[in-house]
Amino acid sequence: MAQLVLPKNSRPGKGKTWPRAEGAKHVREFHVYRYDPDTADNPRIDTYFVDLDDCGPMILDALLWIKNKVDPTLTLRRSCREGICGSCSMNINGLNTLACTKGMDDSEGAIKVYPLPHMPVVKDLVPDLSNFYAQHRAIEPWLKTVSETPKTEWTQSIEDRAKLDGLYECILCACCSTSCPSYWWNGEKYLGPAALLQAYRWLIDSRDETQKERLDDLEDPFKLYRCHTIMNCAKVCPKGLNPAKAIAAIKKMMVERKAA
Ligand code: SF4
Ligand code: SF4
Ligand code: FES
Repeated sequence: MAQLVLPKNSRPGKGKTWPRAEGAKHVREFHVYRYDPDTADNPRIDTYFVDLDDCGPMILDALLWIKNKVDPTLTLRRSCREGICGSCSMNINGLNTLACTKGMDDSEGAIKVYPLPHMPVVKDLVPDLSNFYAQHRAIEPWLKTVSETPKTEWTQSIEDRAKLDGLYECILCACCSTSCPSYWWNGEKYLGPAALLQAYRWLIDSRDETQKERLDDLEDPFKLYRCHTIMNCAKVCPKGLNPAKAIAAIKKMMVERKAA
C-alpha cells in the first residue's frame, strides 16, 4: 500500500463556506469532505452552493460544477460518467454509491459527500484502493486451464455462460467492500465482498480447470469466513449485484467438497 500521511484526527472539523454564485436563484447546498495531506491539517467539511440552473442533474455534475466554477482544488475520481468505470464511487448522504448515477433529486436538503469509508484518503474524495486491487488480483481473476489450448477458443454452452450473469457485471467500484463491517475491521486479511464475488465468478466458470486449487486458496479463517451475512454489500451495489449470495455459494461449495 502507498505510504500516506494520515490526519492527526480523522474526525472532520467545520471548514470554509464558499460564496454563492452571483444571481443564482435555485441553489443546492453541498457539504463536502476535504483533506489535503500536503498541509497535514485535519480533515474539514466545506460548504458549497451549486447553481441548479447552470448544472446537470447528477451529484457528479454538481461536484464538477464546484471544481470548475468555485474551487479547482476539490479532488475526485471520475471517467465514464455513466456507471461503467466504477471510479466515482463515494459516500453520498451516508450510502456508498456512484456519483454519476445518483441524482440530486433523490434527496432533500444539504447533500453530504464523503470518500468511501474506512479507507486511507489520498486527497479529498479519493481513497487509496491499493489493498482492494491487490485482493482482486489475489483471487487470480482470469481463466486458468491445464488442458491443451484449443486452436480457436475455449467454448462454453449458452447455459454455462448464463451462470455468470449477476457476477461478471461488477465494475470494481468498491462500494460493497467499503460498506462491509467485517471488511472495516479485517480489511487486510478478509478478501471482502467484491473480491469474493469475482472468486465465485471464476470458481463456476465451466471453462476453468482449477476449481480445486481456487477453493484450497480460499479455505482460510479470514479470507472467506469473516462474512457474517450482514448484507450491506448487496444493499449498496450500484449494479444490483449480490456479493453476499456469491459468498454463501462459495461456503456451500466448501461444505460439499468436505462431505464428498
Ligand atoms: S454479507 Fe458478508 S460481505 Fe456482505 S456486507 Fe455482510 S459481512 Fe460483508
Ligand atoms: S459487487 Fe457491486 S458494489 Fe461491489 S465492486 Fe462490484 S459493482 Fe461495486
Ligand atoms: S464516472 Fe464512471 S462510474 Fe461514475
